[in-house]
Amino acid sequence: MIRIKSKNDIEGIRDSGAILAETFEKLKTVVAAGITTEEIDDIAREFVLARHAKPACLGYMGFPKSVCISVNDEVIHGIPGKRVLHDGDIVSLDFCVDLNGYISDSTISLPVGKISPEAQQLLKVTEEALYRGIEKAVAGNKVMDISRAVFVHAKKYNYGVVRDYCGHGVGFHMHEEPQIPNYIFRGSNPKLKDGYVIAIEPMITMGTDEVSVLDNDWTVVTDDGSWAAHFEHTVAVHEGYAEILTKLR
Ligand code: MF3
Ligand code: CO
Repeated sequence: MIRIKSKNDIEGIRDSGAILAETFEKLKTVVAAGITTEEIDDIAREFVLARHAKPACLGYMGFPKSVCISVNDEVIHGIPGKRVLHDGDIVSLDFCVDLNGYISDSTISLPVGKISPEAQQLLKVTEEALYRGIEKAVAGNKVMDISRAVFVHAKKYNYGVVRDYCGHGVGFHMHEEPQIPNYIFRGSNPKLKDGYVIAIEPMITMGTDEVSVLDNDWTVVTDDGSWAAHFEHTVAVHEGYAEILTKLR
């Protein structure tokens, strides 16, 4: 069942998403060579707690930290710890905020210091792919319209598009129906309706689309060691337009 969000619900998710976006503004100022991923996690958690919100990933299915922090060949679900960021790394910060029960979900990938032109292009194209998808999140379109737009953009650059993980409905829970794949799929392809709220989240690699989970049962890495980027927004579907809910205001 795909749950429709009321105007009031969307307002709640927008408030949650605004705190999430502010958190990223803060994190952008601290991500630099020398910081550990755990320090970034602490800053994010304290930032949202001070705003009377909760980090929704903390404890979710046993996840031990507040932010999923994934470096270089790590695609998603990296666990913050003692790892130190170095000049030239790329790091993705995937964060979910719970404000009064309204969940927002967003991801940014950032350069650490000076990164290679190849890594710069990966970040740019992955973010562009997200926006190509968001443009299609309009009532009357279908889920596949989003998926295709993301996929086609990434494939122009011959990038790998991860298939094992997808976007999803969000708002009342972190993961709701429908799934939002980043590739052209078979099977159920729901029509998007006014009041759907979805997280669109391309996970794009410089090489293979094949990924594996490390022994810590969380961190997802590329099988060929190629670097990956991840961008995500929570988006409300409306008649005639898509509204990004995880943004500053
Ligand atoms: N925020 C992730 C997503 O985009 C999910 C994180 S899994 C968790 O779907 F366990 F860390 F919460
Ligand atoms: Co998500």
